[in-house]
Amino acid sequence: MRKDLLSISDLNRREIEHLIEEGLRVKQAGTPPLLSGRTLALLFEKPSLRTKVSFDLAMYQLGGHSIYLSPEEVGLGKREQVNDVARVLSRYVDGIAARTLTQQTLRALADHSSVPVINALSDLEHPCQALSDLLTIYEKKGTFPGLALAFVGDGNNVANSLLLAACLVGINFRLASPPGYGIKEDVLNQAKEFAALSGSQIQVVDSPHEAAKDADIIYADVWTSMGQESEVEKRRLAFSDYQVDNRLLSVARADAVLMHPLPAHHGEEISAGLLDDPHSVVFDQAENRLHLQKALLLKLLPNAQVSDKWPSLS
Ligand code: NVA
Repeated sequence: MRKDLLSISDLNRREIEHLIEEGLRVKQAGTPPLLSGRTLALLFEKPSLRTKVSFDLAMYQLGGHSIYLSPEEVGLGKREQVNDVARVLSRYVDGIAARTLTQQTLRALADHSSVPVINALSDLEHPCQALSDLLTIYEKKGTFPGLALAFVGDGNNVANSLLLAACLVGINFRLASPPGYGIKEDVLNQAKEFAALSGSQIQVVDSPHEAAKDADIIYADVWTSMGQESEVEKRRLAFSDYQVDNRLLSVARADAVLMHPLPAHHGEEISAGLLDDPHSVVFDQAENRLHLQKALLLKLLPNAQVSDKWPSLS
């Protein structure tokens, strides 16, 4: 695997399948303290619940620990240059999980760090979410190829990573977004390259109904992401026909699962109460962040070769 995980495109299909397999194994069998003495910096420019808690807990349960650095403390790129922060942290810690306003900041951090940098969400991607989501899908469906995933809403960071991940493992991806809010051309082109190898089909459709019809997975995310707060009213109008609700679920397959990365804006992108629907696997998704990220940390941080050091589990 590469030093860093900045984008889903840093991984190939085999590496993704390996991470999912290890994540499931860790979930079922527990975790020996393979990262004893290791430290992960959590460098965040935006708020977080799941990502912060799951990385912190993953390090603790693997025998290591994490140090949370809030936006105010570090002043990334303001109080201190990104390059310098990367070089300083590399002298102290074994890895950096960074949540940044832009993908460029993440890239600069990775370029100037000698330790692995993990994208803990940027404006462009949310790879840890997508990998955990694949783990959840595999748990629920037992396979990837041929499944149909309908993403209803904004072509945002979550959609980008999910599209790329789906196309690497053979899931068919349908996207329904309002005009002007779809997935950008360069990400779509990258996904098409992956799809040509895996056999995934990508469909960009106009209506949520068309995307959801006979789908195995319906996926929703917020209409307004962190950092876009000034557009909230404009977006509420643009996305008003793109709510995931019971009506949409009813046209999907009977055993379809409903997914959302959280936080949810109940009554906006998802109708009130729908997270409690029997189709919802939203809280499994949240839990699986922990398991998948343990597998990732064991791969990226030093002295943590799971396959070499885990004979008792095979
Ligand atoms: N698209 C959302 C995802 C939050 C996990 C955001 O960037 O705010």
